[in-house]
Amino acid sequence: MAKTTLLDRRTALKVVGGAGAAGLALRAFPTPAIAQGAPVKVGFMLPYTGTYASLAKNIDNAFRQYVSEKGDKLGGRTVEYVTVDDQADPSKATDNMNKLVDRDKVDVVVGTVHSGVQMAMVKIARETGKLMIIPNAGADAATRAACAPNIFRSSFSNWQPCFPMGKVMAEAGHKTAITMTWKYGAGEEQMAAFKEGFTKAGGQIVGELWVPFPEVEFQSFLTQIAEKKPDGVFAFFAGGGAVKFVKDYAAAGLRKSVPLYGPGFLTDGTLQAQGEAADGLKTTLHYADDLNNPADKAFRAAYQKRYSAEPDVYAVQGYDAAALLVIGMDAAKGDITAKDPLYAAIHRAKIDSPRGPITMSAANNPIQNIYLREVKNGKNVYVKVAAEALADPGTGCKMA
Ligand code: BEZ
Repeated sequence: MAKTTLLDRRTALKVVGGAGAAGLALRAFPTPAIAQGAPVKVGFMLPYTGTYASLAKNIDNAFRQYVSEKGDKLGGRTVEYVTVDDQADPSKATDNMNKLVDRDKVDVVVGTVHSGVQMAMVKIARETGKLMIIPNAGADAATRAACAPNIFRSSFSNWQPCFPMGKVMAEAGHKTAITMTWKYGAGEEQMAAFKEGFTKAGGQIVGELWVPFPEVEFQSFLTQIAEKKPDGVFAFFAGGGAVKFVKDYAAAGLRKSVPLYGPGFLTDGTLQAQGEAADGLKTTLHYADDLNNPADKAFRAAYQKRYSAEPDVYAVQGYDAAALLVIGMDAAKGDITAKDPLYAAIHRAKIDSPRGPITMSAANNPIQNIYLREVKNGKNVYVKVAAEALADPGTGCKMA
């Protein structure tokens, strides 16, 4: 027995004969009981540098805020944080995840932001059975075909914030649209979701523009939009890239002639830097700056006090990732190896989130409201509920 528990995961994979069998076979190796007095090791794998750095910081900040509001305990145990900067780089994702799982031996991985990095993490989480909470990346497959009982998401699927905008734009009288995004998993899935909603509502996509990730040279693409003159543009960029895109769009003089829309990532956490270039932009997302429910008011006030900064959707997702973990660890009485009560409690969680109520779908993805917002005076102001309690279809998810 003791011998098998000392095997590291790579050796174990060889012993059981390859990656295909790995997920099931590894769960057969007993895990040593963790002394209840030892701290719970939380591993953050986030892009602390690069175009998504502000997203990482806000997720990390608000996660710690929630744990601190609960007395800095998870199921009665103290908490130790380990951080890895994944740089939003899929080519380094497997090594980075292995560092947390094999070297640092974290109890739970909280990550990440970028969908491509996420899918490498999903593979390892499935192989090892390590508990993973996704605090941003929308990769649809993570809670569809690649779903697993140990993988939970506190954010959204790429489909969720984009599908409802199709109807919103069609109802605004737009018959044609061009899509524009970074060319990687998140961009592709978000554009497909918008296209689904827009064509279903009678609209037509007349052009698709793809920018290599994480490049921010937009000029030649904006020239194509000016030449084609669609009724509207639907675009996904986030973080530093969204700041530059919205400013370039306004500077190109397109704002009045071709209205710009997008999922709320285009204007969340970016408004201060975008300034008046963002005025009037309409976006759909699972958060707005003025929801004014009691949970949101308390969350925003505490975040401002602690960090002297305004929270955004990424902070909300980090905060709710911690809420899910607290619920699970309380149910498991601090024993992270007690997977049945741990996972059952997270799966059944009902959270009174700053974004409004959330529950988990069968595939462990949040069921949540999607709001239409409009930028006014530097805020993403609530306009209406674009889709109430929207669940991702969860297509292909078969829980083991
Ligand atoms: C993603 O890669 O899934 C993603 C990144 C930033 C904002 C939204 C989604």
